[in-house]
Amino acid sequence: MFIPDEFIQELKNKTDIVDVVSGYVRLKKQGKNMLGLCPFHNEKTPSFNVSTDKNFFHCFGCKASGDVITFIRRIENLDYIEAVKFLAQRAGLDVPEGRGQSEGLSKIRNRIYEANRAAARFYYKCLYSPVGKNALDYLHKRGLTDKTIVHFGLGYSPPSRFELLNHLKNLGFSNEEAFQANLANKSEKERFYDRFSDRVMFPIIDLRGNVIAFGGRIMSDIQPKYLNTSDTPAFSKGNTVYALNFAKNKANGQLILAEGYMDVISLHQAGFENTVATLGTALTKDQANLIGRYCKEVVICYDADEAGQKAAERAINLFRETELSIKVLKVPDGKDPDEFIKANGENGAAKFRLLLDKCGNDVEYRIAKLKIKYDLDVTEQKVEFLTEIAKLLAGLENDIEKDAYISKTAEDYDIDRNALSAQVKKYSKQQEMKEIPVQVQPFERKEDSSPKSKSSKAEEALLALLMTNPDAALAVCPDFPVEMFSAPLNKKVYEKIKERAEKGLGTEPVDISGFFSNDENSRISSMVYLRPRENDPFRAVNIYMTILEEESQKLKSKAATMSDEEIMEQILKNRKRKK
Ligand code: CTP
Ligand code: MN
Repeated sequence: MFIPDEFIQELKNKTDIVDVVSGYVRLKKQGKNMLGLCPFHNEKTPSFNVSTDKNFFHCFGCKASGDVITFIRRIENLDYIEAVKFLAQRAGLDVPEGRGQSEGLSKIRNRIYEANRAAARFYYKCLYSPVGKNALDYLHKRGLTDKTIVHFGLGYSPPSRFELLNHLKNLGFSNEEAFQANLANKSEKERFYDRFSDRVMFPIIDLRGNVIAFGGRIMSDIQPKYLNTSDTPAFSKGNTVYALNFAKNKANGQLILAEGYMDVISLHQAGFENTVATLGTALTKDQANLIGRYCKEVVICYDADEAGQKAAERAINLFRETELSIKVLKVPDGKDPDEFIKANGENGAAKFRLLLDKCGNDVEYRIAKLKIKYDLDVTEQKVEFLTEIAKLLAGLENDIEKDAYISKTAEDYDIDRNALSAQVKKYSKQQEMKEIPVQVQPFERKEDSSPKSKSSKAEEALLALLMTNPDAALAVCPDFPVEMFSAPLNKKVYEKIKERAEKGLGTEPVDISGFFSNDENSRISSMVYLRPRENDPFRAVNIYMTILEEESQKLKSKAATMSDEEIMEQILKNRKRKK
């Protein structure tokens, strides 16, 4: 148990959800509920409901829903415990210190934040002392002003391998703690030494202002060019977006996604303070979703080299899964954004602004990329080019978008619209046919429309209970096997809950939504929010577990005597009968 249930109840009682939400959303009374524009997706007509008697919010547009804690988690991007603390502070309550794993983890995390903060201060001091002269010159030569250096908290790690460790020791941090923060390495002989040495240091700061990690750039040709903090209990590379702490307040609907630290810093200095970056890895789904929370449009601005352009393709595909509109800015002359700004001297910012204003969306980017490959004055090549475009357009899911590009392409390349349209249709059909074998899950599909069996109802009820009662999840998950669930989605959801519960991570729909598609997520949230509250969740959990165990027992004893084909036949028959 992390925070006693009674405390959560007290907190919820003392907290008026309308009051809290009103801090972020303008709500108007409508009947019994309050209504406003959803802060979690982009909309023009309000579909975001806050119910005062049920004490939860629900958006009919994006299906986001939950209680006041969930609301704060999402809008402030906090984890469960942090959101509780946030609300507790607001309500003037002290969070009681619980026992157990998660509390231990948050203590470790806090210690890492403290050590990192001390390290950042230390590196900064070094940069502005004689030992850091070269590093400071280096940054100035790269065009950074002192104001920018201070703003990003840049620093310098001195070459000796013990200064930071000594400094931390004087402040009361043990070697083990420095090691846990990945500020120190440990030799085979168990000796500790500074991880970063003779590098320009870039602190990585989370959305609440904690220093969670560092990137360190060497100033010579030695490899690796950048050395970063490895994942620690306080830092996960794949969930972090560099400079989002600054950019989220400057987004105004749009974020620019670059590749590197220096690109971000240069662009901020040039006035594009809505720029962020991943940390030298390919964009992850989590990062794409996180970016999606803070803007409506993302401009992918990766390096012009082949690696950068490949990464851009991948990013486009990931962002296509979000609701964001996507633009792609390709910097000319094979430069990265930082080099481009600098190469254009005083006009750097203005020229980048031009690029930004005229850059096309992802479809236009893909068309432009194809175009380079063909000589359009040669008829044969033009045909090939247009055939490629037809294939590309056939893959677009949105019919309006598809239609618009058919018109535009026909016009741009002076060909018959109907012919192009027919070709696109042909490819669309072909692509659909190809997808069928992968997509068809007849049993799952039918299951949705057919009346639910006792066990599938029990499966959903159990999942709902586990998602909303972290204590129950913690108690159940280690021993209850996933095989007890039959519906594929339910299996998947349970696996995720189990994995997270065992790590002490949140298991509510919002916590796991990053791992599921939009469709799956709306099914998941309806499991939870369309259910009445249980008076005794633990008792209910036990009942549902028993039902599932019994069902699985029944299936097993029957199945033991049947062949696979017979089982299939049986399942099909059952389905038909129920319809
Ligand atoms: N990166 C890394 N480790 C490396 C190389 C790169 O973590 N060995 C990450 C860094 O976050 C870096 C980003 O990938 O900022 C982009 O790499 P690259 O384009 O090589 O560097 P630049 O950002 O252009 O850095 P610089 O301008 O300082 O050369
Ligand atoms: Mn660069």
